[in-house]
Amino acid sequence: MSPAELAAHLPKAELHIHIEGSLEPELIFALAQRNGVKLPYHGVEALREAYAFTNLQSFLDIYYAGASVLLHEVDFFDMAWAYFQRAYADRVIHAELFFDPQTHTARGVDIGVVIGGLQRACEWAQAELGISSRLILCFLRHLSEEEAFATLEAALPYRQHFVGVGLDSSELGHPPSKFSRVFARCRELGLHVVAHAGEEGPPAYIWGALDDLKAERIDHGVRCLDDPALVAELARRRTPLTVCPLSNLKLCVVKDLREHPMKRLLDAGLCATVNSDDPAYFGGYLNANFVQTVEALGLSREEVIALARNSFEASFIDEETRQRYL
Ligand code: ADE
Ligand code: ZN
Repeated sequence: MSPAELAAHLPKAELHIHIEGSLEPELIFALAQRNGVKLPYHGVEALREAYAFTNLQSFLDIYYAGASVLLHEVDFFDMAWAYFQRAYADRVIHAELFFDPQTHTARGVDIGVVIGGLQRACEWAQAELGISSRLILCFLRHLSEEEAFATLEAALPYRQHFVGVGLDSSELGHPPSKFSRVFARCRELGLHVVAHAGEEGPPAYIWGALDDLKAERIDHGVRCLDDPALVAELARRRTPLTVCPLSNLKLCVVKDLREHPMKRLLDAGLCATVNSDDPAYFGGYLNANFVQTVEALGLSREEVIALARNSFEASFIDEETRQRYL
């Protein structure tokens, strides 16, 4: 078995998937029709053609437009269930799903509708596919900390349905320190804490995620390589990085997958993991990310096994299952 085949066959955890980023164009148009939402694209092909991104913001503009078709609990269920079926085909046995409540509450959708639909899909995934899952509520960093506090307050009646909070959306100009107080409150509530940092932003934002937010994982984090002291600290703490190679390629963080830093991160002793980020927009789900990265970088069987093992080490799965896959 080649390293790429091994990667496709191994059981894995996916830790960095924005569930709104799993909305395929076909489902976007089906939901638009079902809900009477008008889209500024003529059809599936025209929408796909718009997926020529130059940076993070050029993607986010289309991603938020795509999410506008989600109105009812069943829409959130259908979206997540479609993801779980694809994850199952890729040998994902545990998934931690980011969701962006503010994208929906801003359009008048109740947060209970969002969490209710996602939670029901998580239950189905366990019952029908044997996939365990967790939800992670993300605050949009281009909005204010006050709005993040209001979102947290609105989510508290559903506290038992999410295990942690994250920070996503436009990185540049929105350092982690902007959200220090709301993350402190989340930690007091016993929530896990993760944050996007060092995707487009500088190493200082990764330091900020560690020191100001006390992030347990860094989402992306690839720019840590610009700062050797930071790499040493991430290795010392064994802070996981949830890396998303095809996302990095599509958002022009790297020019070519052969230049992707994944191998350098592993060589530096970091707990790097492979993830799909927004698979409907970036050209592939988890196995596509694994296979293309393994082939582009010539990763070995040992490195593939380390990546799969890291995904469980870095997960918020129950301790017994975590130990079984280490
Ligand atoms: N929201 C969805 N995908 C994202 C990404 N790659 N970075 C920041 N925010 C996001
Ligand atoms: Zn992301």
